[in-house]
Amino acid sequence: MQVWKEYQLQNKDRFLDELLELLRIPSVSADSKYKSDVARCAEAVKEHLLAAGADTAEVCPTAGHPIVYGEKMVDPSLPTVLVYGHYDVQPADPLNLWHSGPFEPVIKDGKIYARGACDDKGQMYMHIKALETMAKTNSLPCNVKVMIEGEEEVGSVNLGKFLEDNKERLKADIVLVSDTSMISMETPSIESGLRGLAYMEVEVTGPNRDLHSGVYGGAVANPATILCKMIASLHDENNHITVKGFYDKVAELSAAERAAINNAPFDIEEYKKDLGVSEVWGEKGYTTLERTGIRPTLEVNGIWGGYTGEGAKTVLPSKAYAKISMRLVPHQVSDEISDLFKTHFESIAPAGVTVKVTAHHGGEPVVTPTDSPAYKAAAKAIETTFGKDPIPTRGGGSIPIIALFERTLGLKTVLLGFGLDNDNIHSPNEKYDVANFYKGIETIPYFHKYFAEGFNK
Ligand code: BES
Ligand code: MN
Ligand code: MN
Repeated sequence: MQVWKEYQLQNKDRFLDELLELLRIPSVSADSKYKSDVARCAEAVKEHLLAAGADTAEVCPTAGHPIVYGEKMVDPSLPTVLVYGHYDVQPADPLNLWHSGPFEPVIKDGKIYARGACDDKGQMYMHIKALETMAKTNSLPCNVKVMIEGEEEVGSVNLGKFLEDNKERLKADIVLVSDTSMISMETPSIESGLRGLAYMEVEVTGPNRDLHSGVYGGAVANPATILCKMIASLHDENNHITVKGFYDKVAELSAAERAAINNAPFDIEEYKKDLGVSEVWGEKGYTTLERTGIRPTLEVNGIWGGYTGEGAKTVLPSKAYAKISMRLVPHQVSDEISDLFKTHFESIAPAGVTVKVTAHHGGEPVVTPTDSPAYKAAAKAIETTFGKDPIPTRGGGSIPIIALFERTLGLKTVLLGFGLDNDNIHSPNEKYDVANFYKGIETIPYFHKYFAEGFNK
């Protein structure tokens, strides 16, 4: 038994209590109303790093929300792991669908319910507790640098500059991130890729003011109707995306690679039942696992315009809007896809309306190697604590900064995630299983151990 096992057993209740305390801070990065809570959360993370045994930890201001950075250097000749995570969370609305307050964590049936429980406070905090375990038992086999940001959920807009400005300080041998999911506790897996993102907002304008729909309706283009038609045309009858040039750079996988992806255990009936849908939907010629892993997609994230309040108002709106995002796969480039979308969307606007398209944040797709010493260390760590070899999968989500770790710092990443797809991240009743939280704390020190052992081999 490792020396740290006993330490973890003795302190496990405190570890959980501390996480609950962190979950009580509403660190919503998207909403300026929470700016001081975000700052308070950064301070709390810094204090936790120091208490865990970090030599140094500080709250680094940025043009937006601060980044928390700390490190524990054992010996410069040892390898260095750079841990990345985020302490900011998504907005909690719609509030009425939560069974308990999003920032009043409760534990029910072995699950922690709160916004950020899984994404990413619960997972990020496992690293702080793993660091504490190794530091307090003098069993840290490598140097650990920890960078926890507060703007992941709003596109990490200021983290790129932080990487540029701190290249020396962030020097490491691998980036380790727990912000993804695994198939299940019975079938552990490691995501070996993430999709990129291009996020757009569109505005369709018709008449110069809202009009009486009886007096003018039927005689003037209704921007809400036009917007719906335009959006509907973005997928063809096979659910391929119609944006011109969209697929030009998409990497097609070999039959063997596709077979490997489809080999992962997946029960389509369970999937449909869990989501309450009678049928799945998507691009013809691809399975559900392919549609969410290796294929690019286009989704409407929000659409509005005209009267949406209580009761009825007979109005022909002057404007209608939508937020539309595209998930990207290698070798699509976020800015190029944004441009293609803009050109296409403007080109399909009928006479009688004007269209404005703006790009929000984006990010590039990444594929992490599965034959590297770091991946092997992660696989061995999982094997040690789960008793099973993990399966490599492709994740559907995006963590835009991962591509920048490679580009700016020259570092590869290992995605050692412990979430589950049905943890309701970004949804009401987000949860994280207490068992996953503890399993993460147990597994992470093995990653450090195996990574350090394999480093010079
Ligand atoms: N942790 C998620 C990404 C994720 C979730 C990856 C599940 C794999 C599995 C991250 O916090 C996130 O939500 N990212 C955003 C992108 C960001 C630019 C807002 C996303 O994927 O929508
Ligand atoms: Mn996350
Ligand atoms: Mn998220």
